[in-house]
Amino acid sequence: MMKDELVNALTKSPYESYVYSYPHKMAYRPLNPSRNLEGVWSEEKKDALFLYVHIPFCEMRCGFCNLFTTAKPKENVRAPYASIVRDHAQEVAQALGEERQFSRVAIGGGTPTQLDLGALTSVLQTIVEVMGADMKNIPCVSEMSPETVTREKLELLKNTGVDRASIGIQSFIESETQALRRPQKLSVARQALDLIGEVGFDTLNIDLIYGIAGQTDASWLFSIEEALKYNPEELYLYPLYVRPLTGLGNSKKQWEDRRLALYRLGRHRLLEEGYEQVSMRMFRKLSSSEKVSSPPIYRCQEDGMVGIGVGARSYTKDLHYCTEYAVGRKSVLGILEDYVERERASFSFADFGIALSVEEQMRRYFSLSLLSFEGFSNAHFSQRFPDSVFPFLEELKILQDLDLIYMDVDRLKLSASGMENSDVIGPWLFSKQVRHLVQEYALR
Ligand SMILES: C[S@@+](CC[C@H](N)C(=O)[O-])C[C@H]1O[C@@H](n2cnc3c(N)ncnc32)[C@H](O)[C@@H]1O
Ligand code: SF4
Repeated sequence: MMKDELVNALTKSPYESYVYSYPHKMAYRPLNPSRNLEGVWSEEKKDALFLYVHIPFCEMRCGFCNLFTTAKPKENVRAPYASIVRDHAQEVAQALGEERQFSRVAIGGGTPTQLDLGALTSVLQTIVEVMGADMKNIPCVSEMSPETVTREKLELLKNTGVDRASIGIQSFIESETQALRRPQKLSVARQALDLIGEVGFDTLNIDLIYGIAGQTDASWLFSIEEALKYNPEELYLYPLYVRPLTGLGNSKKQWEDRRLALYRLGRHRLLEEGYEQVSMRMFRKLSSSEKVSSPPIYRCQEDGMVGIGVGARSYTKDLHYCTEYAVGRKSVLGILEDYVERERASFSFADFGIALSVEEQMRRYFSLSLLSFEGFSNAHFSQRFPDSVFPFLEELKILQDLDLIYMDVDRLKLSASGMENSDVIGPWLFSKQVRHLVQEYALR
């Protein structure tokens, strides 16, 4: 039965759902009663936390994007945002207590550089002064989009400790960004990349998208070659997903699905160039100057994540929570307005999320390890769950029978075929309960 389900899904399309966390956000529901954060975090290890700060603003709303963000935000939410984030951080810092230590920071969105210089300064101060993250000595990333980048903002980010600049370019061909409904000028994209190079970050990440209407093998390879000219340490190659409630989703436009062929071409080109494949989407070339976090580097399947800002998720061992989220413009605005008007004390409670049973915790650990290049180690699993028997032998056998995984020394890793089918394997590994919750979720 389980095997049939996977075989059936594999015959349809390799692009079912991008699983970068587990459980999926669409499995979150109102928490009744809401949970006090001090209690939520009291039993957690807090010496290597990951701080994520969400900025839900963009210059434009791209036709493919379903992230929690809004284009050209109205003054009533934009102006107070940085100061509300500070209030939010103060409540969370208090709940975490003095022993909190961060091993990584990510400022994402949306587009953090959409903030003006003053608001961006304020957010960075909150991260350092209120949360206590030692940004100069731990890996810190900020996302950015071409038209929001200025020298002042980049220098500010760099001088505060951001060592990884991550920019969405999507394509170096204007007709393709137009087809994505992303109003981006190629000259502006190039200027932004030049500026990032001049300011100098240890790591540059460039996002590209494949599967765009009209994209050919040659045009895809052209975008990759153009990106390589900026010597990025990392490249994310995203298969295009057309999702409900987005501009492309609403347009109902159809075109030939060439994603798998383009993935293979892109992967081949980057491996040939000396990049290693970290996951289906991520490729990297390690630079010698990369900061190593101390204590240990954050691993998504293990440590706690603290989210600040509307839409940011937080993960403890047994509770994942965030504010509500949405895709449609009206619903996003409603949630944003609620956020900036909230009583400060309410930030010390979690009221929307999902509690994780031990089985779900094990499932999270197992699936996220398997989907990353590190692979799954039984020894690590037993250390993490000393009182439990490994419950996913059937899944492992099926994946092995279908040649989707293999044993590499002491770890189970995705084979090349497993890697390109990550977006089928990920959702197949969801528990029945999470699958049901995701299916029942009413997107707005
Ligand atoms: C937060 S944005 C990156 C920073 C910035 N907001 C920008 O767009 O330049 C996240 C990235 O996810 C990718 N992405 C988002 N939605 C996608 C979709 N539906 N299909 C493929 N890639 C997607 C895009 O490559 C995008 O650059
Ligand atoms: S892709 Fe980036 S710029 Fe475009 S809407 Fe999404 S977050 Fe904003």
